[in-house]
Amino acid sequence: MLVRIKAASLNYRDLLILRGQLGKAREGLIPFSDGAGEVAAVGAEVTRWRVGDRVAPLFYPDWTAGRFREAYGPAALGGGDADGVLADLVVMPETALVRIPQSLSFEEAATLPCAGLTAWHALVVRGGLGQGDTVLVQGTGGVALFGLQFATALKARTIVLSSSDEKRKRATELGAWKTANYRTTPEWDVEVRRVTDNIGVSHILELGGPDTFDRSLRALAAAGHIAQIGVFTGFGPQSNLIRLQLINASIDGINVGSGEHFAAMSDFIDAHAIKPIIDKRFAFAEVPAAYDELASGRHFGKLVIQL
Ligand SMILES: NC(=O)c1ccc[n+]([C@@H]2O[C@H](COP(=O)([O-])OP(=O)(O)OC[C@H]3O[C@@H](n4cnc5c(N)ncnc54)[C@H](OP(=O)(O)O)[C@@H]3O)[C@@H](O)[C@H]2O)c1
Repeated sequence: MLVRIKAASLNYRDLLILRGQLGKAREGLIPFSDGAGEVAAVGAEVTRWRVGDRVAPLFYPDWTAGRFREAYGPAALGGGDADGVLADLVVMPETALVRIPQSLSFEEAATLPCAGLTAWHALVVRGGLGQGDTVLVQGTGGVALFGLQFATALKARTIVLSSSDEKRKRATELGAWKTANYRTTPEWDVEVRRVTDNIGVSHILELGGPDTFDRSLRALAAAGHIAQIGVFTGFGPQSNLIRLQLINASIDGINVGSGEHFAAMSDFIDAHAIKPIIDKRFAFAEVPAAYDELASGRHFGKLVIQL
């Protein structure tokens, strides 16, 4: 398949790759995992797609369905040795593409392959999120806001942590039930318990890592679910897991998601008219400025490159 990429988006991972924090990337690597575009040409044996179809490449091109396998890891787009999507044209096998939601523009759909799918996999596929649940998300970046939007659509209540009172307001407008400033309220776990009548939250998107993990455990309700996702404060959180046992709770490690998960997410996005939150758009020549913007943490939601 030859795919003409129309838009790409940045993830925190792209910053980690640029800084060499995810191992050495090949010199000349084409960055970014997340993009969307249309089919420009198909090979003779392609059966699934036609020229003009609106598609996105899978973050893990080989993880089409079923359980994750470690062998899928090295092919993750835009890292290590695997070129990504910051290109006018990419060549992919037909199985490595998924259709994008009809209701989204290319720019909006370009935010889904890593950020959207990770939040979906964590909350819906593994978490079984539903009405009456409570969700905690950390920050107002890509994964966190998708978590807020999916949870709101499922009639769950979401608490958003942010270092910015301005962003807390925007999160409330987007459907957050409660918010807290994790800078001015560093003991946010106490605040979470206070606003939940000391019950805690049933689902947590753990994005912080070592500095947030213990607070997440304390903010978790009995029988709750932590999705271990992020590394904002470093790799390798260490915790005394006895609380998990005492409250019959669970932790799932989450690593993006499969093509099957993506298809279900796209249907949900169409059905619930969810619009990914794009903070800023950049031209190709402005990619370095987009990296700087990501590093600054000023963004609310996603940063997108127009191609
Ligand atoms: N496991 C996976 O499959 C997977 C997939 C995607 C992402 N991730 C990881 O998940 C995390 C989120 O990724 P992303 O791309 O959504 O990030 P992002 O868009 O860059 O999010 C940045 C925002 O996160 C918030 N933040 C930063 N440090 C924080 C901290 N210590 N505590 C709470 N919030 C903090 C800030 O929000 P405020 O300005 O509101 O404070 C910041 O603006 C990253 O660690 C990333 O590596 C993992």
